[in-house]
Amino acid sequence: MTTQDDLKRQVAQSALRFVRAGQVLGVGTGSTVDLFIDALAAAKLDVKQAVSSSERSTAKLTAIGIEVLDLNDVDELPVYIDGADEIDGGFHMIKGGGAALTREKIIAAVAKTFVCIADASKRVEVLGRFPLPVEVVPMARAHVARELARLGGRPVWRQGVVTDNGNVILDVHGLSITEPVATESRIDRIVGVVTNGLFAARGADVLLLGSADGVRELRR
Ligand code: A5P
Repeated sequence: MTTQDDLKRQVAQSALRFVRAGQVLGVGTGSTVDLFIDALAAAKLDVKQAVSSSERSTAKLTAIGIEVLDLNDVDELPVYIDGADEIDGGFHMIKGGGAALTREKIIAAVAKTFVCIADASKRVEVLGRFPLPVEVVPMARAHVARELARLGGRPVWRQGVVTDNGNVILDVHGLSITEPVATESRIDRIVGVVTNGLFAARGADVLLLGSADGVRELRR
């Protein structure tokens, strides 16, 4: 039987086809990306430099000899490879299950091509079953939670988690996100929100979707 981990491993392996020798590579965060970094190490491709969306991925990249650059020192980023918690038919995503959403969104904004690597369980018709992560400045937590509740969600503080940027996460349950671009921008307007985990205005360009039938490459 093919497990979810097998599917993650297959999409991670398949993402190597987007890696170009000599280019700076954008690398995301999560268990699928961890497997991608493992595949990168095993493939011995000529990748010397990367930008990374988390301390976790930075540590893994550094351990395999890839230099992690400050994004401010990078003029162009051809490819960014990252996972998702959910992705819909328009390639809008929910991300941030690993609390790395802010750096992920910044790198996605710079990248020319966003390649999403996901197992089939992540593909949904309507976003929102996965609680939407929202990164919040700590002193604004209660205010932002009240505002998110007014939008119809049920925010839950992810206790004990501090992001790489020193902020906290509210996970918003009970949303059915039929208009992801509008919802993303509405939540961003709440004072105290740093980033929300809807990647809608800038979604993925390519989806590598792993299922028991193999990896499918889909383009927006
Ligand atoms: C990290 O903050 C997230 O955006 C991840 O990209 C997402 O949670 C996918 O993670 P997995 O690959 O572990 O499912």
